[in-house]
Amino acid sequence: MRLSKKNLLAVLALVTVPLFLLTAALITMLKEWEGGTAAFSMILIALSVMELLLGSLALLRWQQEHLSRPFKKLQEAAGEIRDGNLEHELEAPEEEEFSQLFDSFEEMRLRLKNSAEEQLRTEQDGKIILANISHDLKTPITAIKGYVEGLRDGVASTPEKQARYLSTIYSKAEEMEKLVDQLYFYSLVESGRIPYHFIKIPAHAYFSDCRWELKEELDAQDMVTRYENRVPEDVMIAVDPEQLHRVVSNVVSNAVKYRDRSKEKNTIGFRIYVEGKTIVTEIEDNGVGIAPEDLPHVFDRFYRADTARSASTGGNGIGLSIVQKIMEDHGGRAVLTSVKGEGSCMRLELPVYEENDNEPDTDRGRR
Ligand SMILES: Nc1ncnc2c1ncn2[C@@H]1O[C@H](COP(=O)(O)OP(=O)(O)OP(=O)(O)O)[C@@H](O)[C@H]1O
Ligand SMILES: [Mg+2]
Repeated sequence: MRLSKKNLLAVLALVTVPLFLLTAALITMLKEWEGGTAAFSMILIALSVMELLLGSLALLRWQQEHLSRPFKKLQEAAGEIRDGNLEHELEAPEEEEFSQLFDSFEEMRLRLKNSAEEQLRTEQDGKIILANISHDLKTPITAIKGYVEGLRDGVASTPEKQARYLSTIYSKAEEMEKLVDQLYFYSLVESGRIPYHFIKIPAHAYFSDCRWELKEELDAQDMVTRYENRVPEDVMIAVDPEQLHRVVSNVVSNAVKYRDRSKEKNTIGFRIYVEGKTIVTEIEDNGVGIAPEDLPHVFDRFYRADTARSASTGGNGIGLSIVQKIMEDHGGRAVLTSVKGEGSCMRLELPVYEENDNEPDTDRGRR
């Protein structure tokens, strides 16, 4: 136990006073000072013994109190935690030697409190997303029911009409599939079990394929597409193609969803190039853009810059949080810049795979 200054002084007094008295008694005895003072020496010895006894008793009592007070406080604080009260703050102890123990206890309480709050937030987030997706599912289900009824009741009387109805049903079913997929993927992110399968592939070819896969959707939305891929054909990346595709697709779907309908042309540009040891993919749109006060939050789960607009466009505010998580798991990052009214640019950075890097861990998922 470390002694504080105050306690050190008390112990010193307890030792030095009887020592002083004993020395005085000894000197008096030796010198027979002021004649026949054996009785005086005896008194001094008796006084020092008494002082020692009383002092030890006082020290024992003080020690007991000194120890029991902080332990009582600790016991109370532990009881509060046991009863589920994580708000009870443990005050710093008067006794310096207990400060480290109290600090550790407080740190433990704060950690417990944070993890309990995080768990609560996650549960609430889960409920919100479930409610949102259930709500979003209603729209395509209602449409599918309507078109099926049209077919069943003969409203779609001509083969052309029937084909149109069927193609609408198909696209509505696709919409539902996307929503269910999003919900499923969200649950994987939440439980930290994204199933990654990393492979080594040429970056140039990968992004070209991505572009062709997205072309149909972009054309259907009348988006004018620009595409520039300056990555040399032999430059490799170690990625999970499916999850990286999810990243690109989330960013592209935002460019489509948040396009500026007042503009004559809605554009989306892809620029892929190498910068040092990084493959940079820039996806730029001329959409509505994001206000500076919203920009720092768009990667947060459930953050939607304009809730009113998002209510009409759908969306749960999780697309970009997924983008960020996947990019980080690939050893890269996602950076969004935007100017309100002008457009946004997503910069996705991935490390170039080098021959002396470890072979990609093909089953890095399930973490
Ligand atoms: N390209 C963009 N242009 C304008 N605003 C954007 C763009 N990308 C994202 N945002 C803003 O950032 C918010 C968060 O985007 P995010 O993709 O995470 O969610 P969402 O699109 O609302 O829903 P979800 O992707 O889950 O369907 C959006 O609600 C929107 O306000
Ligand atoms: Mg989105």
